[in-house]
Amino acid sequence: MRSGRPSLQIPGPTLVPERIVRAMSQPLIDHRGPRFSALVGECLEGLKGVFQTERGQIVIYPGSGTGAWEACLVNTLSPGDRVLACVNGHFAAGFARTATAYGVEVDRLELPYGVGVPADQVEARLRADSARQLRAVLVVHNETSTGVTSNVAAIRRALDAARHPALLLVDVVSSLASIEFRVDAWGVDVALTGPQKGLMLPPGLAILAISDKALRAGEEAKCPRAYWDWRPVLERNRRGEFPYTPATALLFGLKESLAMLREEGLDAVFRRHARLAEACRRAVRGLGLGILCRDPAEHSNTLTAVVMPEGMDSDAYIAYAYRTLEVSLGVGLGAVKGKVFRIGHLGSLNELDLLGGLAGVELTLRGFGVPIRLGAGLAAAEAYLLETAGA
Ligand SMILES: Cc1ncc(COP(=O)(O)O)c(C=O)c1O
Repeated sequence: MRSGRPSLQIPGPTLVPERIVRAMSQPLIDHRGPRFSALVGECLEGLKGVFQTERGQIVIYPGSGTGAWEACLVNTLSPGDRVLACVNGHFAAGFARTATAYGVEVDRLELPYGVGVPADQVEARLRADSARQLRAVLVVHNETSTGVTSNVAAIRRALDAARHPALLLVDVVSSLASIEFRVDAWGVDVALTGPQKGLMLPPGLAILAISDKALRAGEEAKCPRAYWDWRPVLERNRRGEFPYTPATALLFGLKESLAMLREEGLDAVFRRHARLAEACRRAVRGLGLGILCRDPAEHSNTLTAVVMPEGMDSDAYIAYAYRTLEVSLGVGLGAVKGKVFRIGHLGSLNELDLLGGLAGVELTLRGFGVPIRLGAGLAAAEAYLLETAGA
């Protein structure tokens, strides 16, 4: 094994800070006892702050982001319902596919990889639905396969402008606690996430924030549901319990993660991510490489998808980078498989972590045969970090 810290430059799972590792290492407690119910209360309350919701209900399952898609859909929809799925990447396609698996009829707003969801096109599709058959709009806030952040507030305004009653269901797996996202202010009905990105935890949870309107839809929903049924979870949570054995160690970690986010302050967390992301993009441009996301207003602050030079396979490059320096980079997914590699810059990350990762990218790109100038990316990133230090 290589000495030093692993260079986990993928867009999740992210490095788990020592504080969280220590919090998770304590002896397990009885999940039906008083200490446990206090822990549940703190986690639910803390998550409300991170989702920026006062009115919403939080549900936590042992699971993953993929499970959170399923929980969101089976609790709000019935087989035969129609939804509008905004498909601008691999994860948005997965969200839509999950709805199809439950017999939901999915109208797709098909978009190229590298662009965000255009609110005007959503509005046009909703206006065209004069019979108001669409029950929900499915959106991925930050598409992790392309490094594109969509404007959820604008999509909310599109629903309002069309006076359409559809639920707004949003995947925030790679944006929560990293990029600004507001459940109440943006009228989001279900926001869903996992713990292994901005929350800095190991994988293993599916987390949802649910509006009153979505709870009411849940009373009518006819999709088959047992494990993912949120009603027994909400009911037992009121007593600080779960209807199954919960992921106690992850909840210890979650409590610590929420404390860390509170100490730094959510706005400062968003600013840190924005600054490191811009430094990364400047490094990529400094190396003369392209960024998949086309519109700077939609650049993701949690990852950058870098376009591999023509004729070079990004999968082979990523394997080379790991083999030579053990730097882990995200592979190209779906339509951009073999064409892009993704640099993650989220979670517990500072300037030197980022610069170390970027140095790994430069060294391995050059070693792989990409004609870059060593130091050009780092110099651009460093200049920007210096310029914005203390800002
Ligand atoms: C935007 C998005 N949605 C859903 C998922 C699926 O989450 P999981 O891998 O935890 O099932 C991911 C995973 O990276 C993601 O980035």
